[in-house]
Amino acid sequence: MKQITVSPASRAFVFQCGTIAADKSISHRCAMFSLLSDQPSEIKNFLQGEDTLNSLQITEQLGATVIRHGADVTITPPLQLSEPDDVLDCGNAGTGMRLFCGLLSGVEGSFVLTGDKYLRSRPMNRVAQPLRHIGAQIDGREHGNLAPLCIRGGALKSFRYASPIDSAQIKSALILAALKADSPSYYKETLLSRDHTERMLRGMGVEIETQEDGWIKITPPVQALKPLHITVPSDPSSGFFFAVAAAIMPDAKITLRNVSLNATRIEAYKALARMGADITYTLREDIYEPIGDITICYSGQLKAITIDKHIAWLIDELPVLAVAMATAKGTSSVYNAKELRVKESDRISATLDGLKRTGIQTVEREDGYDIIGGTLHSATIDSYGDHRIAMGFAIAGILCGMTVEDVECIETSFPNFYDILREISEVTDGD
Ligand code: S3P
Repeated sequence: MKQITVSPASRAFVFQCGTIAADKSISHRCAMFSLLSDQPSEIKNFLQGEDTLNSLQITEQLGATVIRHGADVTITPPLQLSEPDDVLDCGNAGTGMRLFCGLLSGVEGSFVLTGDKYLRSRPMNRVAQPLRHIGAQIDGREHGNLAPLCIRGGALKSFRYASPIDSAQIKSALILAALKADSPSYYKETLLSRDHTERMLRGMGVEIETQEDGWIKITPPVQALKPLHITVPSDPSSGFFFAVAAAIMPDAKITLRNVSLNATRIEAYKALARMGADITYTLREDIYEPIGDITICYSGQLKAITIDKHIAWLIDELPVLAVAMATAKGTSSVYNAKELRVKESDRISATLDGLKRTGIQTVEREDGYDIIGGTLHSATIDSYGDHRIAMGFAIAGILCGMTVEDVECIETSFPNFYDILREISEVTDGD
């Protein structure tokens, strides 16, 4: 099990960072959606993380030809998806497994989706149940809830489904299934979750319309979709680790370049600004998504905030936001975030366990927590095999020094995390 030790930063840092990892959500979708066209898709800056490389490998197992030149990938879809002769391994990726579930439910054949021990313990009925309702055959352990999942794909019926959970993974799985249905389908969520699927599929020619009453209408296409020609922007969730670094380190300033500025993805930056950090945005282009730069400047000690709304828009950033909250003046509170308990780890208990080890007082609730701001102390942290916990506490290390155990998981989403962290602080490896 690999561990790292991050030393306290010895000087203020000011730099422009153009190398934040490519967006994970968009990269997964690039791999999968390329299968919906009959022409090659060209993707630049595809995320070279384990999660998204697994999705790419699955497209090959389904019959696509993939040519990679570094991060530039050409995916030529097969005329017809073929039944693979082996299991499809999504690794650690919930997005991979849930979206492939939706996509494969409507494809003739038998498919087995599996993953690592963390993914095999995450709930899949949230997508499998509504898919079964429209005719998909999906089975797995614990009454079809846990992977490995066996899917026998075939004809699907259209649907009208109001999801009880605001989740882009559920929405995307259902939208992918709707493309194979016999007539238009309708999907609704309480808060619009990240909308990359809608944006990218619209760009490929799918009729997806958000109606005034909030229902999304998906019309099955009558012909093959246009291919993707896309440069994946940097991932705002990955960039947020360094946003927090700048917000907690006196006199620091970081500019994150070419990041997605999609409103469903930058809510954590808004929360950090409410805590007092100085944050500015510069829009540079709009291709599928608004893309631009985000500059984060230290602006004095942060102040506590309460977060109880728009949770789906900052769910991935809450672990490292908790580090910022630990340094803030006052008690910060998070509510309505029970989804954190079913991420790559139970992120409520993993985050609070880490903070307690650093001497920070916390209160745990089923759907959130309170963090009483104070002074972080050096500690040894268990990542629980979760990349966002590992990177969140590595960032805390720039203030007080930190050892983080079980850090292999960082490779799933942010392979060059250490290169950027080393611009700020000394990082040493250990076993
Ligand atoms: C993702 C959606 C989110 C997020 C995950 C990526 C996606 O999950 O936590 O990291 O790419 O659709 P939920 O939509 O299930 O909350």
